[in-house]
Amino acid sequence: MTPPSVAVFMASLFELPTKASIRLLDAGAGQGALTAAFIERAQDKAQIAATAFEFDDQILPELRAKLTALRKRTNANCEMVEGDFIEEATNRICLGKGARYTHAILNPPYKKISNDSKHRALLRAVGLETVNLYTGFVGLALELLEPGGELVAIIPRSFCNGPYYQPFRRFILRRAALRHIHLFDSRNKAFKDDGVLQENIILKMVSGGQQGSVTVSTSRDDSFADYEEKHHAFARIVFPDDKDQFIHIPTGDDEQLLERASFGHSLADLGLAVSTGPVVDFRMREDLRADPEAGTVPLLYPGHFNASGLQWPKAGFKKSNAIRDTVATRKWLYPNGFYAVVRRFSSKEERRRIVANVIDPARLPASLIGIENHLNVFHAKRQPISEDLAHGLSAYLNATAVDTYFRRFNGHTQVNATDLRAMRYPSRDALIALGQWTKTRASVSQDEIDERVNCL
Ligand SMILES: C[S@@+](CC[C@H](N)C(=O)[O-])C[C@H]1O[C@@H](n2cnc3c(N)ncnc32)[C@H](O)[C@@H]1O
Repeated sequence: MTPPSVAVFMASLFELPTKASIRLLDAGAGQGALTAAFIERAQDKAQIAATAFEFDDQILPELRAKLTALRKRTNANCEMVEGDFIEEATNRICLGKGARYTHAILNPPYKKISNDSKHRALLRAVGLETVNLYTGFVGLALELLEPGGELVAIIPRSFCNGPYYQPFRRFILRRAALRHIHLFDSRNKAFKDDGVLQENIILKMVSGGQQGSVTVSTSRDDSFADYEEKHHAFARIVFPDDKDQFIHIPTGDDEQLLERASFGHSLADLGLAVSTGPVVDFRMREDLRADPEAGTVPLLYPGHFNASGLQWPKAGFKKSNAIRDTVATRKWLYPNGFYAVVRRFSSKEERRRIVANVIDPARLPASLIGIENHLNVFHAKRQPISEDLAHGLSAYLNATAVDTYFRRFNGHTQVNATDLRAMRYPSRDALIALGQWTKTRASVSQDEIDERVNCL
């Protein structure tokens, strides 16, 4: 349930018309905290008719009591709709009937929706292809707004990047202007799903609005004690040439470094690609071996890398050090050679989300290698890259500015190949020079990497 201070902050983000009537939507109303905060703020400004949707029988009595109390205490007209918001909203949209709203405030449920579920089919019927209830709620609430209507929602950040939410990003950005994003800049406000840490944001959008600059605010927690805000051109939030429409949330200063033209190269410009390590261990259990033996090749997990580089084989390793080289497994193997790799999962304690290393073929006595699924690998058409490029790429990816830039569009601890594809890179020559510099050093500190990258 939304804490009172967050509900009050959300309510404060709306523009309120003077002497007009407001029709408020609260979808997934719970105990009515958001409707109450809105009415408290707006009651003196306009006549309010609020509609609260909720389907949980256990919560409905509390919601009913809250709405009754609000009706008595204020001049607002509060209605409760008992039932499934997705069903009701998609019906209204498909039939073109039912109330439309001037304002929507929501903290929607977070739940994956499977491809064959009723909710997925209903959302599809209104042109919204999405994988989670929270994006379904936001998309439908936007559809139920009048032109100029405003929506404020507190939702996880996961929709801002990644391929699954691309249709949702297109859906909302086609229909509405993005006005304000608030980021809780605190890990303890994040919640965990599938082992992935999620950050929450508050989003304000205006249906059919003219897209102008976007306010990005931050606070460490829901006391808003250290609230700060900045205004950014929309082109810094959604890049004009980005067909995936990632939503960036700029919060730091050093991330601007990567906006320089010298970092304007894509992986394709560099002649490189990045893929998820193809060996999924639980699907290939029979081919895995604890230690190397005849007929096997090295298998690399994140655990094979530490600050001093690649350690293989690892004695007493909990995972496997080797995979059988067979006709069946060969299609999953890479030729041995230099590659840069990035771990797909970091823990919240780690300072950086992006942790890169180099695969050094001299440490692997084989012509083929297996790269496990918890690593992303940079390669050239599944072939090795040059030693200097692998070292340069790894050093670059470990720079603080790269990590900060990455956090603009990725709010969780998972680093996927699509995210690395969306990054900006320096030129191939600059990366090679960086790689040559790192090779002359026994070890390189974070400060030294940062200084080098800042001068590219
Ligand atoms: C995260 S809670 C937020 C509650 C409240 N809006 C608040 O901010 O405190 C989401 C609410 O949505 C309700 N909900 C989940 N699925 C729903 C559905 N399909 N239709 C209507 N309500 C739903 C849940 O019962 C829950 O009360």
